[in-house]
Amino acid sequence: TYERFWLAGSMVLIVAFIVTITYGTVGLGITMIGDEEEALPPGEIDEDDRFEDPRVEQVGENEYEAYVVAQTFLFRPEPIEIPAGNEVTFYVTARDVIHSFTVVGTNTNTMVIPGEVSTMTVEFEEPGEYGVICNEYCGSGHHDMEGQLIVH
Ligand code: CUA
Repeated sequence: TYERFWLAGSMVLIVAFIVTITYGTVGLGITMIGDEEEALPPGEIDEDDRFEDPRVEQVGENEYEAYVVAQTFLFRPEPIEIPAGNEVTFYVTARDVIHSFTVVGTNTNTMVIPGEVSTMTVEFEEPGEYGVICNEYCGSGHHDMEGQLIVH
């Protein structure tokens, strides 16, 4: 009977462990909904009207899309402003070399490659301000490549 007790106990621990990993970001109020990558058509960002004018756009009742361009050594738009409690899909591409789009203190983080679009859907539950940084060495201004994400 003791064996049964320990077996049940370790099952509870395993389940608790999985739950912690799965919902690790909930404590921050940020939900990662999904991510993927797509290729841009030849001719790249200047031919793609989503990135001609980097912006945040409302596309549904609680749905927004953010078109973000990373380039040496900034992010556009600056700042990126999104509403709390809504699903926001980020489409991020690079204009020149490889950068990253990293929202400090969250798991919103992706490599950004010229000719490709990185897509991430996230939800920020609470208003706040986050730094956006680049984690891929991209040249002399890499360490100063900073942006801002404002959730309001
Ligand atoms: Cu952009 Cu480092």
